[in-house]
Amino acid sequence: MRRKIVAGNWKMNGSKDLAEKLVGYVRSEAGSLDNGVEVVIIPPAIYISDVVAQAAGDLAVGVQNVSGWQAGAYTGEVSSGMAVDQGCGYALVGHSERRQLFGETDEVVADKVARVLGDGLVAIVCVGETLEQREAGDAEAVVAAQIERGLAKVEVSQWERVVVAYEPVWAIGTGKTATSEDAQAMHASIRKVLEGIGAPSKDVSVLYGGSVKADNAAALFAEPDIDGGLIGGASLIAEDFVSICRAMP
Ligand code: G3H
Repeated sequence: MRRKIVAGNWKMNGSKDLAEKLVGYVRSEAGSLDNGVEVVIIPPAIYISDVVAQAAGDLAVGVQNVSGWQAGAYTGEVSSGMAVDQGCGYALVGHSERRQLFGETDEVVADKVARVLGDGLVAIVCVGETLEQREAGDAEAVVAAQIERGLAKVEVSQWERVVVAYEPVWAIGTGKTATSEDAQAMHASIRKVLEGIGAPSKDVSVLYGGSVKADNAAALFAEPDIDGGLIGGASLIAEDFVSICRAMP
């Protein structure tokens, strides 16, 4: 079932204090959201239990990354089963920072997606082209390949727990948002790719990420194939994040 989602990815930012104050504020405001949006907070793994406590079941919580392994001698890794155990309902997979800085390939993404879905979480699978790829006219082909390979292991019964986040790499943390028209065009293309791999494409939520702010969210969310946002910097400012949640029609 296609859902409206606004997810705040804190990346490697935050503290116990932020977990208490920001999540407490967002939770208090979430009660007055009348647009059916699912609000997800995705803190660093070490703060998940603090955020879950503050969210008190009113907000969903996610993990930024999970191990491709289930358990064992993998020092420093966190499994998707542990994320479930701590109260997470969502997991990000294949964020461009993990692809670029930690060498995650589409094959690694596919394995992690399988692990996350197998453990019952919703997988938010990130895709997106670099500026160089966009300028070469390859954006749609690059994103299509990431989807085809990264979602290769999804089973028919699991599509309802797959969310795609389109994040053009050149828009992340740069203040340069894709125009709502360009984002819509890519989201429509993503839906065609999903259809091509047998997904119920009309039911899969496709989020946009990349410099979404309180003042540009409404235009993006008004597009027919944009079901919400994956928010980085603006998710660390409580009032801005709530404004973005309110911008959903
Ligand atoms: O996961 C979030 C995205 O990378 C977007 O980050 O809103 O800071 O550009 P940003």
